[in-house]
Amino acid sequence: MVRDDDFAYLRKILKERSGLALSADKQYLVTTRLKPICEQHGLKDLADLVVAMRSGTKGRQLVEEVVDAMTTNESLFFRDQAPFEVLINHMLPQLIAARGGRPIRIWSAASSTGQEAYSIAILLEENAAKFGRQTFEIFGTDISQAALARARAGEYTQFEVGRGMPQHYLSRYFTRGERNHYVISPAIRKRVTFEARNLLDPFDRLGQFDVVFCRNVLIYFDRPTKTNVLERIAKIMPGDGFLILGGPETTLGLTAQFARHGQWRNVYVRTVSGTRATPSDRICA
Ligand SMILES: C[S@@+](CC[C@H](N)C(=O)[O-])C[C@H]1O[C@@H](n2cnc3c(N)ncnc32)[C@H](O)[C@@H]1O
Repeated sequence: MVRDDDFAYLRKILKERSGLALSADKQYLVTTRLKPICEQHGLKDLADLVVAMRSGTKGRQLVEEVVDAMTTNESLFFRDQAPFEVLINHMLPQLIAARGGRPIRIWSAASSTGQEAYSIAILLEENAAKFGRQTFEIFGTDISQAALARARAGEYTQFEVGRGMPQHYLSRYFTRGERNHYVISPAIRKRVTFEARNLLDPFDRLGQFDVVFCRNVLIYFDRPTKTNVLERIAKIMPGDGFLILGGPETTLGLTAQFARHGQWRNVYVRTVSGTRATPSDRICA
């Protein structure tokens, strides 16, 4: 059990540091997710953990561990499938025609353990002949250091590759590593750069992105935080860029900077005064 004042402190810290809006009935979640941290640090219970979090340098480290432990890193290869097909068959051909050879930049804005970014990289590799000399940059960012470490390692269990990875890609782009894990090939690995980023912090230094996958992360934020993140994403997207959200997410009612794409589910486009922006309306950070 967690005491009310300790739970209130944990909710406040999580909201401030990661945007996670934890509802009042999530005491069990806090208890199960934070128990391993207590054990690892020899702390008796959550009350002890809260005391330790409030104290000095060790406290700051513990806060980071707590934030990390409370993130939900669920992800899978080619999740929802349709956005990847639309990316390869429609978005990229349009963007390539508009960019005149400049690199096309794709951001997986809550990349978790890397499946989303690597799914994109695999499709770029598969379609290399079609896209000719066009270059692409794929960035994967996440708040969770543990998830990023796994993404960088590019190692997945049988269960993880079994969720969404077609067999022919598995044999082409993975080798068997230690503990029977599947390891992503260097050709795919080198297409993606992973970096730690908190979506609550400024991210305009990352530069402009033509396509932003920001999926299954806004659901954890409250409305003002969702609006804030979406409006800052709008600032780092050119007028003809594309934003892809997760199935349960939307920009509707949160910001007028985006409008739903007329045909493609979960895809949003930039607006300028309520109309679709054109390439010449490119927004600069
Ligand atoms: C459910 S996963 C989604 C992964 C992937 N986008 C997908 O749809 O499969 C949510 C991810 O959001 C990350 N996250 C949560 N809060 C964040 C924040 N404030 N900044 C950056 N990433 C955050 C979590 O660490 C987690 O890896």
